[in-house]
Amino acid sequence: MPRSKPLLVLVLLAVVCHTAFGQSVNGRTDFDNGWKFYLGDNKQAKEAGYNDARWRSLNLPHDWSIEGKFSKDNPAGIGGGALPGGIGWYRKTFTVPQTAQGKQVYIDFDGVYRNSEVWINGHLLGKRPNGYISFRYELTPYLNWGKSNVIAVQVDNADQPNSRWYSGSGIYRNVWLVTKSKIAVAHWGTYVTTPEVSSAQATVKLQTRLRNTTGSSQQVTITSKIVDASGKTITAAGTTSYRLPDTLTTYEQQFTVKQPQLWSVNRPYLYQVVTQVKQNNQVLDTYTTPLGIRYFDFDADKGFSLNGQHLKILGVCDHHDLGCLGAALNTRALERQLEILKGMGCNAIRTSHNPPAPELLDLCDKMGFIVMDEAFDTWEKPKEKYDYHQFFKAWHKRDLEDQLLRDRNHPSVFIWSIGNEIPEQRDSSALRIAADLAHIVHSLDKTRPITTANNNPDTGNKIISSGAIDLVGYNYHHQDYAAFHQRYPGKRFIGTETTSALETRGHYDMPSDSIRRWPERWDQSLKKGNADNTVSAYDNVSAPWGSTHEESWKEIKKYDFLSGMFIWTGFDYLGEPTPYEWPSRSSYFGIIDLAGFPKDIYYMYQSEWTNKPVLHILPHWNWQPGKTVDVWAYYNHADEVELYLNGKSLGVKKKQGEDLHVMWRVKYEPGTLKAVSRKNGKTVLTQTIQTAGKAARIELVADHKVIKADSRDLSFVTVRILDANGNLVPDANNLIHFKVAGNGHIAGMDNGSETSMESFQGNQHSVFNGLGLAVLQAGTAAGTLTLTASADGLPSANVAIKMQK
Ligand code: GAL
Repeated sequence: MPRSKPLLVLVLLAVVCHTAFGQSVNGRTDFDNGWKFYLGDNKQAKEAGYNDARWRSLNLPHDWSIEGKFSKDNPAGIGGGALPGGIGWYRKTFTVPQTAQGKQVYIDFDGVYRNSEVWINGHLLGKRPNGYISFRYELTPYLNWGKSNVIAVQVDNADQPNSRWYSGSGIYRNVWLVTKSKIAVAHWGTYVTTPEVSSAQATVKLQTRLRNTTGSSQQVTITSKIVDASGKTITAAGTTSYRLPDTLTTYEQQFTVKQPQLWSVNRPYLYQVVTQVKQNNQVLDTYTTPLGIRYFDFDADKGFSLNGQHLKILGVCDHHDLGCLGAALNTRALERQLEILKGMGCNAIRTSHNPPAPELLDLCDKMGFIVMDEAFDTWEKPKEKYDYHQFFKAWHKRDLEDQLLRDRNHPSVFIWSIGNEIPEQRDSSALRIAADLAHIVHSLDKTRPITTANNNPDTGNKIISSGAIDLVGYNYHHQDYAAFHQRYPGKRFIGTETTSALETRGHYDMPSDSIRRWPERWDQSLKKGNADNTVSAYDNVSAPWGSTHEESWKEIKKYDFLSGMFIWTGFDYLGEPTPYEWPSRSSYFGIIDLAGFPKDIYYMYQSEWTNKPVLHILPHWNWQPGKTVDVWAYYNHADEVELYLNGKSLGVKKKQGEDLHVMWRVKYEPGTLKAVSRKNGKTVLTQTIQTAGKAARIELVADHKVIKADSRDLSFVTVRILDANGNLVPDANNLIHFKVAGNGHIAGMDNGSETSMESFQGNQHSVFNGLGLAVLQAGTAAGTLTLTASADGLPSANVAIKMQK
């Protein structure tokens, strides 16, 4: 019998209705290829018979903004990345086979920025203002079976500014065609929870929503089984026969998993639930739902625990852009970002400030990240003239419900955030809206806590005092962490956003030991002597509301009840170059630059958050003789570090108390700087930096030398400018010309500079502080892709990438 007991416990698990890497599951096929695009408005283009022969051909995902030119006159402003918006049209002509007649056919969009309107064969299917939400339309009634059909999509990102960061424009996430029987699992139609979990066994509950569009009631059976990571069926929930009315109906099944393999950040073990709907022994639908079994708790005193073990949430906030690729989703590019973050010990991601691409959650499930899944940056009150506040009243319920339905089965999702720095924090309207949003979340998922990210987390905050949220989210205010329980006795804490420190990768220009907040009038002080809009890479400059990296981490580290932190940000992102003005056009907040190159602070976190031995010294060793230079070292697994300059010891340093680095003040002379870390007198690690000579050659280093010939896979090639002895030239800015031979192309180029006006596209780009990046994208044919890089006065270099079917 179907059972419908309320879900009680703050213990979880998960499912994924989406798949990474574009395979077809759950009746979906990739619908990304063979689109036509026109940049501009054309109302005729919605008509089926419109002639789009002259339009540009392209494959999705696509972001037209990233193809544009940086200009301070673009209405998005530097906050939006100084790139163009506008209106664009997409069309795709396709055939649905005659044999599919009798099936239900849908189109799924994972995300379109923004205000999309979709037509099939001239019929309007709907409009969706929210640029980050996934949505489905049914095509069945309008299809020409066995003949040609046309989907037309208008994307309207003309009203600007509508975002505080770079949004991108267009159909920038994947699109799917979904073919289903008339009786099938509904859209986002499963919900898995694990109300009881112990090392001995777990109870798994599956709710399945079936959709019957036959027009009459039908007898069907539903069979579900749990499959482990090796593909072995470990338990099946009985085949039950149901009389299915002509509507949507939810059924429940329950399983026991003996000795479950628990999902954790270090061992993200995934099961799958496979559900089959059958009639007269014929399979009508097969629906796969990945499942992770884990339990967790946020405790007012002890902080966060996962599977009964205390765990600090070591997170970063990130926006959705992928640097030089713009907003156009690429699963490998996302995976690379997560690999780099894992490498520094990060275990959590906040999807600031909007629902992410489904592929991000798939990857977090697989790679072991805790996700704070965020819904909104505004409610009814604006931050920008044309932002989501315009649509909040009409759309928030639908958007939030769809986010929950899509994401609630991911084991990686642990926290729902219903808003970031919501302007209503001080208004009584917050009481009404917070309660409404919390009600929507609870109606679909009670297994995860709700939070908001508050920049005014004092007791005057009406969102917090509404009682609607479970975790009190602090944005910044690290000085107030220690006294949290004086302010909020018995409440649970999460550092929803911390830090906002500034660094430019590879740039060092001021004494390192004085911490500075940028002042009200930035241009009067810090900016002086920084005509090129760069910030010193010593961790000593932050927003007035923020902290240096070390300041916030020291506080979070100190107290168990501080369950964790989400640093602003993991990666630099396009837009919000605060506090700089034009020509800056991307942020300085990242631990990693826009091209994916770690800044020095990355190694502070690595030394604190990982178990691998770390010794990292900074800065480079190319200065004017006689200059006083501060040398810093981040290290772990050692009691001390000794620094040598040209063989002469500059002394042994040990971190004292809460120290996170050691420092020597050194009179510069060219040569070799060498650091040795030691434990009990035994060398743990050594690092040397040599004064680099003139640029002598180009080195190309590919992150993947073998990629898939699937038209999506990428190889990220780092360009390094070296001197004759192989030292990185730390101020090299050579213009590099690229050539590609083989079936593939350059998807983007970058160098991590926040002020570069060079296009991310084309075949030439400068390096910045010695480093550059070229992103190679595979074609569809197996073979070799060769990248050649040349620059004036340097011998050219090349790297060969193998593409495999
Ligand atoms: C926060 C905000 C972020 C970003 C950051 C920069 O207040 O939530 O979106 O703007 O400041 O410091």
